[in-house]
Amino acid sequence: MTSMRPPFPRPIEARDFDAIIASDKEMYPTDNPLTAQIMAKWFTHYPEFGMIYDGFGCCIIVPVTKSTWEAYIKQEIDESQLANGIFDGTSTIDSKIGLHLYHIEKSQAWTRQFDRMANIVLADIRTILYNINQRRATQLILKPLDVIGFSALAASDAGFNMAKKVFRMVPLYDAQEILYHNIKTQELAIFTTKNQPKSSNEWQIQGEVRLMALKGSSACRNLLFV
Ligand SMILES: CC(C)(COP(=O)(O)OP(=O)(O)OC[C@H]1O[C@@H](n2cnc3c(N)ncnc32)[C@H](O)[C@@H]1OP(=O)(O)O)[C@@H](O)C(=O)NCCC(=O)NCCS
Repeated sequence: MTSMRPPFPRPIEARDFDAIIASDKEMYPTDNPLTAQIMAKWFTHYPEFGMIYDGFGCCIIVPVTKSTWEAYIKQEIDESQLANGIFDGTSTIDSKIGLHLYHIEKSQAWTRQFDRMANIVLADIRTILYNINQRRATQLILKPLDVIGFSALAASDAGFNMAKKVFRMVPLYDAQEILYHNIKTQELAIFTTKNQPKSSNEWQIQGEVRLMALKGSSACRNLLFV
């Protein structure tokens, strides 16, 4: 049986920002959450990387320069600081691009009659890169894109499994943050491995937060085939 897919995603718009930020915060309640202003900078040049599957889910990818991607995976900057190094392929001859997956989530409408979301998202990223390369090919000065890295901060078991099994990412570090939920209030909170809650009657481990990535052009080559 051939698996179906939901309709192709549309590019993100400003009206989408608040709900995505709120949804990400529910999963990863960081002290340094994103703002709509920062998200707007992420998608100045390529809003198609903010993949909105209306009614079915979303996959939000931040396209950045090589140096910014490398600073992020070395943990020198956080997700909100990616905005300072957004890839602008229209005004540069630099073709090196890093992709960071900020958020992915499917709704109940994405049932088992569809292929799993991770497979569809990979196919759609290839299409987006292909379309950008088609546009670049019309300007002789621009070389085809060279994807030098693909990363994700996995904050759930589902996210970790997807990143490992489908995206083939590897964890870059031991988990430094642990997600706990409060047994009474259901509140989700981030603790560091060095500073974990004292009472196991109050807090229960939900999962580990892991920075994962595919590093280097050859590891990412598969993203460029359509
Ligand atoms: C992360 C997420 C988008 C991945 O979705 P997905 O790629 O469709 O995969 P699922 O998580 O539903 O897959 C769970 C299992 O069901 C299987 N599955 C899913 N859809 C299937 C299908 N249509 N046919 C057969 N198997 C399927 C997967 O292969 C996987 O099996 P495995 O554990 O043996 O590999 C989804 O789990 C989600 O929205 N989670 C909540 C938000 C979240 O955690 N986001 C990540 C934060 S970092």
